[in-house]
Amino acid sequence: MQVIRSLSQMMQLNYPLGKSVGFIPTMGYLHRGHLSLVEASKKECDITVVSIFVNPAQFGPREDLSSYPRNIDRDLKQLEKLGVDYVFIPSEGMIYPEGFNTWVEVKALSEILCGNSRPGHFKGVCTIVLKLINVVRPDKMFMGEKDYQQLMILKKMLRDLNLRTRIVCCPIVRETDGLAMSSRNSYLSTADRALALSLYNALMQAKKAVSEGKTDAHMLIALAKQTIRIAGANVDYVEILDSRDLSEQETIDEHSRMLIAAYVGNTRLIDNLSLSSGE
Ligand code: PAF
Repeated sequence: MQVIRSLSQMMQLNYPLGKSVGFIPTMGYLHRGHLSLVEASKKECDITVVSIFVNPAQFGPREDLSSYPRNIDRDLKQLEKLGVDYVFIPSEGMIYPEGFNTWVEVKALSEILCGNSRPGHFKGVCTIVLKLINVVRPDKMFMGEKDYQQLMILKKMLRDLNLRTRIVCCPIVRETDGLAMSSRNSYLSTADRALALSLYNALMQAKKAVSEGKTDAHMLIALAKQTIRIAGANVDYVEILDSRDLSEQETIDEHSRMLIAAYVGNTRLIDNLSLSSGE
């Protein structure tokens, strides 16, 4: 495994002719969710590249940039074990040199859900991901469904900007009790860890209600909000949207997806689930 810390070295890297390149962009502090993306890339592509960069541009002024968990040594050990070919670890100055002033924004899709509570967040995500794609030049980029809105926005960006990289969506990896894996779970106290499960419980409750014939999105949303509030967490949003384009739905169909964001103490968590019985 080669660790590359220089932008020009990564840009000039010559991949062997005809070999496919899989890419997993990360902010480090890797968990089993990230590792499942690496495994998917190893299966589908000849060469696997992982980047580690805590991107300041996607954090708001009152968010957790300075406390975001980091452990590069542990990350590198895990990636080496999985047989990753290259790990790209740029510095902030390389990515955002003095005078940097070009931003990429996917309108509309970035203004709902998390974009509403975290203004500018997706502009930061799109800009860094486009820059990383330009540097790494992957055929496929592997991303988890946990950040479902991010996935949809990045797909749209790749289409709108005619990039040849394709996104491969991978399922959410959960703890045995259902909590979605997230680097931010490390912030949770034991008591908060129990509250955090209310997001998953609310999703499963909605899925069960749909399987029993309930189809009114407003009713299902109200029920989910109540479950989260009763547990003691603060709802940011609960929505049921069409999983293909994140448009609003009144009535459940096979494309319905419930998306949740909630604060457990000071930690903002997100989760989502398809409400269709087939998934
Ligand atoms: O999902 C993440 O970890 C980040 O948003 C990403 C895609 C690595 C961009 O910084």
